[in-house]
Amino acid sequence: MQNPDKFLITGGKPLKGTVVIDGAKNSALSIMAACLLSREVSILENVPRLKDVYSMIEVIKILGVNVEWIDNNTLSIDPDDFNNYEAPYELVKTMRASFLVMGPLLARLKKAKISLPGGCAIGARPVDFHLKGFRALGANITTEKGYIKAEVKELKGNDIYIDFPSLGATENIMMAASLAEGTTMIENAAKDPEVIELGNFLNKMGAKIDGLGNDIVTITGVKSLKGVKYRIIPDRIEGGTYMIAAAITRGNVEIKNVNPYYLKSCIVKLEESGLRVSTKDDSIFISDPEGIKSVDIKTMPFPGFPTDMQAQFMALMTIANGTSIITENVFENRFAHAGDLRRMGADIKIEGRNSIIKGVKKLSAAPVMASDLRGGAALVLGALVAEGTTEISRIYHIDRGYVRLEEKLRSLGANVRRE
Ligand code: UD1
Repeated sequence: MQNPDKFLITGGKPLKGTVVIDGAKNSALSIMAACLLSREVSILENVPRLKDVYSMIEVIKILGVNVEWIDNNTLSIDPDDFNNYEAPYELVKTMRASFLVMGPLLARLKKAKISLPGGCAIGARPVDFHLKGFRALGANITTEKGYIKAEVKELKGNDIYIDFPSLGATENIMMAASLAEGTTMIENAAKDPEVIELGNFLNKMGAKIDGLGNDIVTITGVKSLKGVKYRIIPDRIEGGTYMIAAAITRGNVEIKNVNPYYLKSCIVKLEESGLRVSTKDDSIFISDPEGIKSVDIKTMPFPGFPTDMQAQFMALMTIANGTSIITENVFENRFAHAGDLRRMGADIKIEGRNSIIKGVKKLSAAPVMASDLRGGAALVLGALVAEGTTEISRIYHIDRGYVRLEEKLRSLGANVRRE
């Protein structure tokens, strides 16, 4: 059974103080999968203690890999002689990113059987680009009873064009190609920081990857990879969410342990909406806006505005001065949070990939329900300024991606309880 916890949030307090950001969920997930490419132990530091990370631990344990927490945020992953190549439905359905073990399985065991991730609250999210990539590397792929089976004699490098710069597909292909014979060129590759980090990690293991952060990434296969020690980068989406928490409550907050460069698009949009944003080393400071102006947002692959910040930005726009249009270009169905924000008094109209948000004077508490991770975060943000006490259910979605959210918000002065 899913965790029945709820958040009770009484709005109205401007947030003040410093919040420290944890390690990046999505970077930890792909790097954990990449550890399987070596026979040696890898040590990962700054791994966030999140539900999705626990799910990935379960997946790689099922495959026969030894995983252990050796410190609060440090994982040791020993993939010496694991031999199971099957990731079952029960695990993959809880987290789509489990599919990232397919590339490493093909490279190490020459076969993989992974449940199709299936539908998801934010759109169809197929895995066709991943499979196109594996086929190009020589794998034979079949589907059977909801599972994808892939087998290969020898992975061979090839040129692969991805139709859309998919983060997951770029990562999965990069991992498989690292141990393929010859050279692979991924065209229209994703340029996200998590992809660059995975590439840096693989290169530290002994891979030969060039062009990280560009449209074309080249991978020259090597015979084997070694175990390494690596530190996970800070979570840009957690950082961005606290930026909006400061903005929406008209607070004054230092967001510490972030890379401001990776949050550039969010910083620019917050400045356009009238906020004062400054950066110093690994901190972003958000302060006292005169009043929030409406701005338009279009989500795009990195370095464009991240789809993972769209819901949170919508929460901010609900109380902005004027009308804003948010266009979701990455996922076809990612506005589930709009309905619950409306229950709190927001004026939002959805037309296909666009949502039109007319700023209102205030939001009011209402019982609402998180329907996905970032949409859930948007409801928390709305609740921080709503009049009265908002009850948010299904917060297990939020726990997938935010470490101790209620504690961190409370330390900034918010009135948040988990019940
Ligand atoms: C990753 C992130 C997720 C983020 C998303 C977009 C992880 C664990 N998750 O998800 O938080 O919201 O990037 O930045 O890192 N697509 C296909 N076929 C495929 C693969 C993708 O059509 O084989 C489509 C998707 O449906 C979507 C778009 O491509 O419309 C981008 O998806 P993708 O970048 O692959 O997202 P994920 O890697 O699943």
